[in-house]
Amino acid sequence: MRVTFLGHAACLIEADGKKLVIDPWLTGNPLATVKPEDLQVDAVLVTHAHGDHLGDAFQIAKNSDALLIGIFELVNYAQFNGLNRVHGMSIGGGYNFDFGRVKMVPAMHSSGLITEDQQIIYLGEPCGYVIQIGDKTVYHAGDTGLFGDMALIGEQFNLNLAILPIGDNYVMGPDDAIYAAQLLQPEQVLPIHYNTFPAIEQDVQNFKLRLEEETSAECVILSSGESVEL
Ligand code: NI
Ligand code: MN
Repeated sequence: MRVTFLGHAACLIEADGKKLVIDPWLTGNPLATVKPEDLQVDAVLVTHAHGDHLGDAFQIAKNSDALLIGIFELVNYAQFNGLNRVHGMSIGGGYNFDFGRVKMVPAMHSSGLITEDQQIIYLGEPCGYVIQIGDKTVYHAGDTGLFGDMALIGEQFNLNLAILPIGDNYVMGPDDAIYAAQLLQPEQVLPIHYNTFPAIEQDVQNFKLRLEEETSAECVILSSGESVEL
């Protein structure tokens, strides 16, 4: 399995000839190195409705004729916007897709879509995903604060990789992300959701030092466009 960081929270997963993208915010993302029209994927997973996650998800799903996976309200909203290949889930549920198994897990955050005409449309709960393809298991936490039930995710899955936000302010900061890694016990941690804009600036090299001191996980720092092989 190859995981490519696309900037902010966007990640591309390639395994067994299938491609999935999670939270593809590319247009307007200062860290993005690919354009939405250049992504051909089999599935688009969205963790919540904030613009820096929902991003180009609908356009990419349409262009690729890909399956859009998200929480029930969000995929219904996608259908209202003309997407017909959608798969709604809810927290705690898993499903065996043709590419592998996805379990939707909790995230402590919010999920309102802010529209251009200054309305807020709530699109269900925010979530994270545990994705199992072949013998590899990846957890993408979405946007979340630290929560104790990450210990359950750590008990239920042998995580090869945990993709964790570290930017603070809207999500976990470095201290809580290290605590999260202690609960999750992944082999590797990919820090995301930092340095995209001033409010979430972090010293990621210092995070790596501390994470590797305080947990058994290896920290993989990726610049946008770089990949890790699991
Ligand atoms: Ni958010
Ligand atoms: Mn976010």
